[in-house]
Amino acid sequence: MTQVDVLLGLQWGDEGKGKIVDVLSPQYDLIARFQGGPNAGHTLEFDGKKFVLNTIPSGIFNEKTMNLIGNGVVIDPIILKRELDNLKKAGHDPIAKGKLVIARKAHLILPTHQLLDAANEQKMGNNKIGSTLKGIGPTYMDKTGRNGLRVGDTTLPDFKERYNKLVEKHKEILSHYEFEYDLTEKEAAFFEAIEFIKNIPHVDSEHFVNGYLKEGKTVLAEGAQGTLLDVDFGSYPFVTSSNTTTAGACTGLGIAPNKVGNVYGIFKAYCTRVGGGPFPTELDDEVGETLRQVGHEFGATTGRARRCGWIDLPALKYAIMLNGVTELIMMKADVLDGFDTIYVCTHYEHNGETIDYMPYDIISVQPKPVLKAIEGWKTDVTKVNKVEEIPAALSNYISFLEKELEVPVKYLSVGPDRVQTLELI
Ligand code: GDP
Ligand code: IMO
Ligand code: MG
Repeated sequence: MTQVDVLLGLQWGDEGKGKIVDVLSPQYDLIARFQGGPNAGHTLEFDGKKFVLNTIPSGIFNEKTMNLIGNGVVIDPIILKRELDNLKKAGHDPIAKGKLVIARKAHLILPTHQLLDAANEQKMGNNKIGSTLKGIGPTYMDKTGRNGLRVGDTTLPDFKERYNKLVEKHKEILSHYEFEYDLTEKEAAFFEAIEFIKNIPHVDSEHFVNGYLKEGKTVLAEGAQGTLLDVDFGSYPFVTSSNTTTAGACTGLGIAPNKVGNVYGIFKAYCTRVGGGPFPTELDDEVGETLRQVGHEFGATTGRARRCGWIDLPALKYAIMLNGVTELIMMKADVLDGFDTIYVCTHYEHNGETIDYMPYDIISVQPKPVLKAIEGWKTDVTKVNKVEEIPAALSNYISFLEKELEVPVKYLSVGPDRVQTLELI
């Protein structure tokens, strides 16, 4: 029986998952998003066009690939409708082509979930998480609190009553905040979008995915966010509200752990984070600004400036361990083209000790990075399309990382376009 491969981020998100899922999608029969929601922004570029997907899996542009939004995802019907409308306008209509299905068990983001997100962040002031304000946290809270509404509920005769009951609960909570709101417009858009998403086939993702596997078909599970934003293992409480790690693919699709095959761990040649929370290798100086400008490090979902810093090996080793990564994918090497010297954080200094792992508390005492200098390649690599053309200093950087991380780098990305991707092994 075929196994499911998983592709997920090893840092704080925005590693380039969308681009690589698109590149790999011809190898798979099914691409399945397993967690998160429209807090994600996955960018794809090909034929001079650029698309940002929030909820829709990144296999959608491949003619033969089916795409599943799994039960672990939280869906904002308004955003999903907008994504599909935009795709249709651009000449890609996944519904007409029968290329998209959604899990009945996926939970719905209500307009009041977003209000709760905003009210909560407003109250936290300087300690706010820096949420994307898409209602992710409150929706997962209702899921685990056993109050949530699911995609499958939309076809029940009492859906509107269930909706009203939950919204009443939310209004009661909102009354404890100093927070003004007007729901009228959003609510109308919500119900219009609910009618629209009834046109997308609803499936039981557990049977759907296992059915593919039983038939010997290939499946790639697409992660959102990144390992360091995982609700259990990330920099809590500065995390998202789902399991972004390999285990999340099992619960988010309904596949058993022994069905997981390759785990692709994707990382940038440096590191970024958007929103609040600790970031040991952050460069709050002109070097960080250079990375931001050269790498266009502005959020695909919110447009916020991403914080930038050097690559962090203790954090990557932790992420590789948690996910059982079998192959690495290194992104955005081209962003470092202009540097004479680049730096790698090999260890942390924390409470007077030198350590090579992520300690429990990185918030009250932020670890200080111990940096190793690496020679830059000072070459434009954006047009490199053969492994033999990779500059020696970049090959050395990759070899150094492979030795430290004990996992091979299978793909190297040297630009945002689909074609700017090299297979190394
Ligand atoms: P995701 O959330 O992991 O899918 O990543 P995002 O789409 O949020 O952010 C990655 C950004 O980097 C996008 O703007 C991509 O177009 C861009 N990108 C991806 N790979 C490369 C690369 O190798 N080089 C450069 N310069 N940009 C890249
Ligand atoms: P992709 O899939 C980067 C961050 C937010 C915030 C924290 C919690 O594009 O890599 P939430 O909206 O989940 O309540 O926000 O998580 N965050 C992301 N950062 N990439 C993402 O997704 C993110 N999704 C959420 O900035 O710090
Ligand atoms: Mg993103």
